[in-house]
Amino acid sequence: MKIITGIDEMQQTVLALKRENKRIAFVPTMGFLHEGHASLLREGRRQGDILVLSIFVNPIQFGANEDLDRYPRDMERDSRIARECGVDIIFNPDAAEMYPSGFQTSIAVRELSQPLCGASRPGHFDGVATVVAKLFNIVMPDLALFGRKDYQQLALIRQMTADLSMPVTVQGMPIVREADGLAMSSRNAYLSTAERRSALCLYRSINAVRAMQAAGERSIEPLREKAVDIINAEPAAQIDYLEFRDGTTLQPATTAVDGTLLALAVKIGKTRLIDNTLLGKE
Ligand code: PAJ
Repeated sequence: MKIITGIDEMQQTVLALKRENKRIAFVPTMGFLHEGHASLLREGRRQGDILVLSIFVNPIQFGANEDLDRYPRDMERDSRIARECGVDIIFNPDAAEMYPSGFQTSIAVRELSQPLCGASRPGHFDGVATVVAKLFNIVMPDLALFGRKDYQQLALIRQMTADLSMPVTVQGMPIVREADGLAMSSRNAYLSTAERRSALCLYRSINAVRAMQAAGERSIEPLREKAVDIINAEPAAQIDYLEFRDGTTLQPATTAVDGTLLALAVKIGKTRLIDNTLLGKE
């Protein structure tokens, strides 16, 4: 396994591999890897001749009062997990390599970046789209894998690659959860033991809504009320958003049909967690 920190070296390496007709699979991450990332890596390993993992805590997708400085990092552990998953190359640039002084380009996926996390985190998705476009130009993947844990991010990347005719296949992957249902996230490391217990309210509310919808409830309001009640019963939890949306366009849903997205962001103490489900699916 090779670790590359320079853009030029990464591009030269991948161009040489492409001349040998190697199929490049790519998993972009911000590191502090967990089983969710590993599931993407294993699928990439299965489909690609060469598996590239990027680890880059992307400053331009963090707001001024967000957790950029304390975002968890552990390159040694990440390297071990990467090796276990069969990664060939880790691309691990620093911020100066990615954003040298004078950098001034931004990609905005105008509509999909507005609602949900886009409303709570202004500029976040421009930062994501910009770094992913740049990473695609550096790694030149045939296949890129993204988790449905970040549902809006996946939708936006799909839109960007289609709009800009990027020659890459984007594959979405299921949400990986802890045994008790909490969606895996690098940010779970911030939770105290008590907060970790409170955090289960996200999954509990998802399950309750899924059960009501499966039993025939199609009106949004009773479903929303149920989910909100479950979360509000946790003193440490504060809802940022809890919304029902069309699973494709992310426009507000009027009924809860199969394929309707329930997306939520909840603060547990100081830690903001997101989760989602597609009703009737998964
Ligand atoms: P990060 O949060 O590290 O996530 C990297 C990838 O892992 C994303 O595609 C994310 O959806 C996926 N992932 C995270 N937790 C998951 C889980 N529990 N189950 C399945 N997949 C999971 O998302 C980012 O980094 C960044 O925004 C990035 C795309 C790298 C751009 O900076």
